[in-house]
Amino acid sequence: MAKDYSAYFTRPSAKEARKRKTTQTPIVSFEAHINVRHLGVGKQYLIQTYGCQGNEADTENMRGILEQMGFTATEDETVADLIILNTCAIRENAENRVFGEIGRLKKYKKHNPDLILGVAGCMPQDESVVDRLLKSYPYVDLIFGTHNIHQLPYYLETAMFGKERVVEVLSIEGSIIENMPKKRQNTVKAWVHIMFGCDEFCTYCIVPYTRGKERSRQPEAILEEVRQLALEGYQEVTLLGQNVNAYGRDFTDKAYTFANLLEDLRHTDMPRIRFMTSHPRDFDQATVDVLAKGGNLMPHIHLPVQSGSNQVLKKMNRKYTLERYLDLVDALYEAIPDMSLTTDIIVGFPNETEEDFAQTLALVERCRFEGAFTFIFSARANTPAASYLDETAMAEKKARLQRLNTLVNDGYLKGNERFLNHTVEVLVDGESKHDDAVLAGYSKHGKLVNFKGPKALIGTRVNVRITEAKTWFLLGVYDESLT
Ligand code: SAH
Ligand code: SF4
Ligand code: F3S
Repeated sequence: MAKDYSAYFTRPSAKEARKRKTTQTPIVSFEAHINVRHLGVGKQYLIQTYGCQGNEADTENMRGILEQMGFTATEDETVADLIILNTCAIRENAENRVFGEIGRLKKYKKHNPDLILGVAGCMPQDESVVDRLLKSYPYVDLIFGTHNIHQLPYYLETAMFGKERVVEVLSIEGSIIENMPKKRQNTVKAWVHIMFGCDEFCTYCIVPYTRGKERSRQPEAILEEVRQLALEGYQEVTLLGQNVNAYGRDFTDKAYTFANLLEDLRHTDMPRIRFMTSHPRDFDQATVDVLAKGGNLMPHIHLPVQSGSNQVLKKMNRKYTLERYLDLVDALYEAIPDMSLTTDIIVGFPNETEEDFAQTLALVERCRFEGAFTFIFSARANTPAASYLDETAMAEKKARLQRLNTLVNDGYLKGNERFLNHTVEVLVDGESKHDDAVLAGYSKHGKLVNFKGPKALIGTRVNVRITEAKTWFLLGVYDESLT
């Protein structure tokens, strides 16, 4: 029977995306979905990834699905039969880069009319982006969002055989899909989603719309995945969620929190466990207490603060005060005295005053941050902050960003200097980008370490004595005797 391909035309709606149900999310196993095998045999794919770690993890799922369909990976866009851009909508400049890239890729469609060009990820979750793609980029064959990656085989079947444009972006998340195939980028470090979505609705942020409501994976599924990764020789996992501290809040059948999950993960054989990202409001004392036990829980906490001013935090809907943030930071330093603390900061939020900004600078010094991602506020369509009155000139915002970065860079350097003449454990990632005679990896505190050593060390954890501290990295000597 002929398949009805017209089913694959669905635009998202921000109004719909705002709706949140209180029910626990159903779980579906991927096997039920895949029935379009071998479509990719003899064909090559290329995926470009623009977003956060969650976006990278989604790319790994797409790669897994495509390889199960017989596609092979290529880095060469001139020979690719399928190019997918897995996009990010967090700031306007991220989006502009993608539109520029779609324009640039048009020439390959001319050379190879069978090339399938797809746009996926967070950008298509915004209705205005879909409209712009439909209107101005008619040669894009495939548009899908973050909630329906598992449908990729069907979309490709339609695009390849039906020769039709496929547009399917769902406003509302469906089930949690377990057992999706996955082709990981790295053989020693792995991303593990513990939850999806975000219910915080910070007023500047697009993520609650692009990623849907908070849905936690079952603890057993996560533990099983981490145990399996340990068996396969993985050395490090990073637990992913937009607000990992809200993990389990959506369970209706049990009381099981992020602290419980960390406690259970402590007893696995995974040598290193990290997590991203924490939200200060939901970071509870039970989690601080588990982290204090150390072991395979790494002493690096990324705790986005966004601003040091209470009135800005309120307008951002961050739901904590400066005082609450400082209390949490103090509790963390007390529990993990040698912890490395990093953060995210937005400057130039609508009508941020010089006084507000000075409070952010004071906070940066007070918290001893050893790194920060700093951003100028970017208005995102359909978010509340996009309509806030904003009279601060862009030049002023840029000047503030520069002042902030100077201070942040001091923190990076101080954070690195404290390891001078210490021996640190480094998980060796590979060769240094700048010099292939030098190896590079990260310490437990998340510091980049460069040192000379045999390539056989790649993928292992070794001891390195630190001899020099720079702002962005540490230099050291491989200490065989200590391994
Ligand atoms: N869920 C994470 C962060 C997700 S986005 C958290 O809450 O910490 C990563 C960072 O991008 C945010 O921490 C914030 O600093 C920044 N960001 C998000 N939306 C932004 C916007 N509209 N303009 C500028 N920066 C933004
Ligand atoms: Fe965005 Fe706030 Fe959710 Fe982070 S917690 S993803 S900043 S809405
Ligand atoms: Fe970007 Fe989406 Fe991640 S907007 S930051 S790719 S959740």
